[in-house]
Amino acid sequence: METLKRAFNDRRAVVGALILIVLGLMALLAPLLAQHPPSQLSNDTWLHPNSQHWLGTTALGQDVFSQLLYGSRLSLLVGLVTGLIATVISVIVGLASAFFGGVVDDILSGITNIFLVLPGLPLVIVAAAYLQVSGVVPVIAVISFTGWAWGARVLRSQALSLRDRDFVQAAVAGGEGPLRVIFAEILPNMVGLIAANFFGAALYAVLAEAGLEFLGVGDVSQVTWGTMLYWAQSSQALLQGAWPWIATPGLCIAALGTAFALLNFAVDEVANPRLRSERVAAESKPLALKPAGAPPAGDALLQLRHLEAGYLTEKGTVRAVKDVNLEVHRGEFLGIAGESGCGKSTLAFAVAQLLRPPGQVLSGEVWLNGQELVRLPPEALRQTRWKDFSMVFQSSMNALNPVMRVGDQIADAMRAHGVSDKSLIEARVKELFGMVGIRPEYMVAYPHQLSGGMKQRVVIAIALALEPRLVIMDEPTTALDVVVQRSILQEIDAVRRRLNLSIVFITHDLSLLVEMSDRVAIMYAGEIVELAPSHDLYANPLHPYTRRLMNAFPPLEGERTRRDGIAGRPPDLGRVIQGCPFAPRCDRAMTGLCEVVAPLRLEVSAGHVVACHLYDPNVMKGRAEDHAIAAD
Ligand SMILES: Nc1ncnc2c1ncn2[C@@H]1O[C@H](COP(=O)(O)OP(=O)(O)O)[C@@H](O)[C@H]1O
Ligand SMILES: [Mg+2]
Repeated sequence: METLKRAFNDRRAVVGALILIVLGLMALLAPLLAQHPPSQLSNDTWLHPNSQHWLGTTALGQDVFSQLLYGSRLSLLVGLVTGLIATVISVIVGLASAFFGGVVDDILSGITNIFLVLPGLPLVIVAAAYLQVSGVVPVIAVISFTGWAWGARVLRSQALSLRDRDFVQAAVAGGEGPLRVIFAEILPNMVGLIAANFFGAALYAVLAEAGLEFLGVGDVSQVTWGTMLYWAQSSQALLQGAWPWIATPGLCIAALGTAFALLNFAVDEVANPRLRSERVAAESKPLALKPAGAPPAGDALLQLRHLEAGYLTEKGTVRAVKDVNLEVHRGEFLGIAGESGCGKSTLAFAVAQLLRPPGQVLSGEVWLNGQELVRLPPEALRQTRWKDFSMVFQSSMNALNPVMRVGDQIADAMRAHGVSDKSLIEARVKELFGMVGIRPEYMVAYPHQLSGGMKQRVVIAIALALEPRLVIMDEPTTALDVVVQRSILQEIDAVRRRLNLSIVFITHDLSLLVEMSDRVAIMYAGEIVELAPSHDLYANPLHPYTRRLMNAFPPLEGERTRRDGIAGRPPDLGRVIQGCPFAPRCDRAMTGLCEVVAPLRLEVSAGHVVACHLYDPNVMKGRAEDHAIAAD
């Protein structure tokens, strides 16, 4: 019920309901509003709209407006009744399938799948043609019969996930019978989904009915919007200039379909947790943040100040990004490396302001090109995204639209941001393809025709489309093989040099990074534990974690000897960590110090920052003195 209430706060639901009410009034008040009986023939054929016949007359002299009014009755009836029947079948099949499982599920799912793969409309046509009963009943029967399967499938999976929830398990364990569990425990939690399903089925029914009638398969002696279209078409109404005869029933069908579709979307969104969380995210405000400080001086394009981000979970806050301070310069290639679970993705999302609840930026500032992003209103953020910075993620290639040519998808991204000149877009798409190493003939390919590497190149091309100043790439090549990874990385690097872009490249593979980056940041347990120019880091890794990470991957060239991985796992970021987070895994940990006191971040040589007690002169001096005292 709560979901339904929420749905009606949605503007789309209101519009859908209003359309439905208007059409409903047409149906109810038809006898009052119509000036002529809908089927009454007369000699006034092919009249144009006039005061007597507002929408003109048909080839047989019937009043089009009256037909339209009466026609709404059957269209609505078919929509609502069929929607209801199909929904009831879906609910019964879906719930029974989910609740009983085993053989029952196998059989019901089998039947559902058969109905899913049967082409709906052709089946309706064949079935309707063989049913010899006249009137609207066979149409309803046939459409209900073919329209329930999709709903059953959706409801089954929802019920399955509910079945495993605590409260349902508790009811079953408490000895409640299956019917009671289904109707008292599971069903009330599915009201929104069932309502969405109903509107979806009604939409299908209205369109299928119109289609059938239009093809003349239904009972053409009845007055419905579909039969109006059928007669108008077969009498060549357009040639006679009687366009209202064709246009108005068409419009009404479209309006009814739109009403059901709007209601379906609105209810579906509140009923579907995944869609909902995205909307909540768009609306949620960050925690009370302190006002930002002054914009950075100097040539930093991106500056992170004391950035903290994490996930507010039931068990407490997971602090996945802790006090990160970092600058990225114009044209710089900055690498970020660390094992998985160290907060790299959270950092990328926090910078891009793309964290979704329960994820959130907790405090700190993100300055990009003079703008502070954490406190930027959503609309301004949308403007900035793609234009000033863009992102590529490991799973980005799965986000390509499977039914759209890849070249068009890049063009679309550009159009969405106001580039409208067609030849300009075309030239640019070609150029982008060249930049990321795809031959231009692939512009007309669909994603499924491309390999993983090619798809990822397309995604990178999209990210580059608007010439952003900064591109954040979170493991964009991890799913690809090493050779492809390397060649993509080289192309990205070439584009960077050409366009003077800044790139933040995140990966767990350090060896890949040191070759390509200007500077590398090593992330561990949500913190940046070492930051240095690449060559410096490569020649002289300081943090014990960096050293181990360096050895964990085989070199790209040369002999492929087995390297030692790092024993153990990064710490759970949901817990409070005392001392140095790496201490439990560190072979150089100093007892009584590292697991107790967190190390400071110190710049040990130009641009080389490390957070490790081993490089803190004060700490080491203190320890030397302690040892001296102990030895005395
Ligand atoms: N939605 C989430 N809810 C709670 N914790 C999360 C969520 N997503 C990630 N985390 C936690 O945040 C930490 C950092 O994750 P992530 O940023 O994905 O690391 P990486 O990209 O380095 O592998 C992990 O400990 C992970 O368990
Ligand atoms: Mg990650």
